[in-house]
Amino acid sequence: MGKIVIMDHPLIRHKIGYIRRKDTGTKDFRQTIGEIAMLLCYEATRDLPLEDVEIETPICKTTVQELKGKKLAVVPILRAGLGMVDGILQMIPAAKVGHIGLYRDPVTIKPVEYYCKLPEDCQEREIFVVDPMLATGGSSSAAITMLKERGCKNIHFMCIIAAPEGIERMEKDHPDVDLYVGALDEKLNEHCYIVPGLGDAGDRIFGTK
Ligand code: PRP
Ligand code: URA
Repeated sequence: MGKIVIMDHPLIRHKIGYIRRKDTGTKDFRQTIGEIAMLLCYEATRDLPLEDVEIETPICKTTVQELKGKKLAVVPILRAGLGMVDGILQMIPAAKVGHIGLYRDPVTIKPVEYYCKLPEDCQEREIFVVDPMLATGGSSSAAITMLKERGCKNIHFMCIIAAPEGIERMEKDHPDVDLYVGALDEKLNEHCYIVPGLGDAGDRIFGTK
């Protein structure tokens, strides 16, 4: 069974409060999404395995710890997931980046797939799927299914705001995937938007509405 971690770090809480405000403009919204992604990444990578390595400092030989084993990949769900990528790459500059294009049909609320381009060796990598919003869970679940169909195994999911319905869906469809959630909200409204949420994350990041 995967882990579900709901963040309680004060910086994450403060910054999520700021992006929820309807008067936070595109520039500040986009910048803060990046900052939150960096902090989520810090928490979500807490359990990555380390190994001892012998090195020499200018003073003497010593043993240090370095990340062991699998390399990482970040996979944003387009569009809104793109807003989280730079913050994560600031923490893990060597990570490869894949892209999954999905949008939620406004009438059926079902995800519609339009793009998938992953690192060639994605099956060997530890994968962090990122999307600011986990609402019904349809998009994230479909993205993770697409990764599994391509042979990916070690998958983690990071989001900024989740609804209980989305978490339930992910637990049901992908119980092997760890979930790292910035804040757990109350519910979905009749249009399947998260309440209180922050509105449409993609539109707010890219200024399209
Ligand atoms: C938003 C969001 C998620 C999805 C969440 O994307 O970024 O991908 O909705 O909803 P769900 O959990 O009910 O599937 P949207 O479809 O608005 O596309 P966009 O990022 O291109 O704006
Ligand atoms: N997608 C968003 O961008 N926001 C929501 O609240 C739900 C889906």
